[in-house]
Amino acid sequence: MKKTIVLVTGGSRGIGRSICLSLAEHGCTILFTYLSNESKAQELRDEINQMGRGEAYGYRCDMSQLPEVLDLAKRIKRDVGYLDAIVNNAGIVGDGKPFLFATDEHWWHVIRTNVGSVTNTCRVLLPMMISRKAGRIINITSLSGQKGNAGQSAYSASKAAVVTFSRSLAKEVGRFGITVNCISPGLIDTDMTRDISNEYVANRLVWSPLKRKGGADEVANFVTYMICDAPGYIIGQELTIDGGLGVS
Ligand SMILES: NC(=O)c1ccc[n+]([C@@H]2O[C@H](COP(=O)([O-])OP(=O)(O)OC[C@H]3O[C@@H](n4cnc5c(N)ncnc54)[C@H](OP(=O)(O)O)[C@@H]3O)[C@@H](O)[C@H]2O)c1
Repeated sequence: MKKTIVLVTGGSRGIGRSICLSLAEHGCTILFTYLSNESKAQELRDEINQMGRGEAYGYRCDMSQLPEVLDLAKRIKRDVGYLDAIVNNAGIVGDGKPFLFATDEHWWHVIRTNVGSVTNTCRVLLPMMISRKAGRIINITSLSGQKGNAGQSAYSASKAAVVTFSRSLAKEVGRFGITVNCISPGLIDTDMTRDISNEYVANRLVWSPLKRKGGADEVANFVTYMICDAPGYIIGQELTIDGGLGVS
């Protein structure tokens, strides 16, 4: 049977890693990128290949840099030929300083990383999907992009930008059989949130219905559903998975 080939950006750790494992469980071929953590990438490649269901390819690539993404496209064409789906997951939260205390350079670094990583993959890899008249793109956004967050102005702005970018792109490429949607997690237990103080987390969760962080596997299962099983009639949406944090 033909395997579904999926690119997951920022797959070496956290939510991206769980997405890779969940898709591999479903028999997909996984292409994942990472920025610098070679040992984590090697670990994931080995784990997936040992599962004996889907194959894994890992690529070091700074997704915010267009020339690196152009080179990634060449390597993908050489290794597997085409893509069925892309999960734009790579992202950074930044150092958590209030807007007036963050340097201009740092602010734009967060925007460039979180927005540029998404637009670069779409710019470079969408033509491959358009020529095949099929494809699914999932962009990982954030509850912070919906509600804003003190100390995360660049992060929140970047994620909100990805949502409207995705909606616009969905309107442009739907006629080619390609769907574009966002999945917006709340507070998820990964390296990104482990440094946040217990007091801050407790305050955020106190009014939420579940009163706990989400697991990366919970987000991953949702992404896998959207790629492998969801109706192709879901287009241009931002789907929230936050344990009710956003409605509390
Ligand atoms: N955790 C949460 O509570 C939460 C909530 C809402 C949304 N999100 C979003 O979910 C996504 C994943 O978050 P996470 O918590 O799993 O983060 P994480 O644990 O910090 O992992 C980030 C991953 O992205 C990679 N990465 C970072 N910058 C990159 C770049 N420029 N090019 C390529 N890869 C890059 C890292 O590679 P290395 O291993 O090489 O560093 C790593 O694999 C992000 O977009 C984040 O904004 C997270």
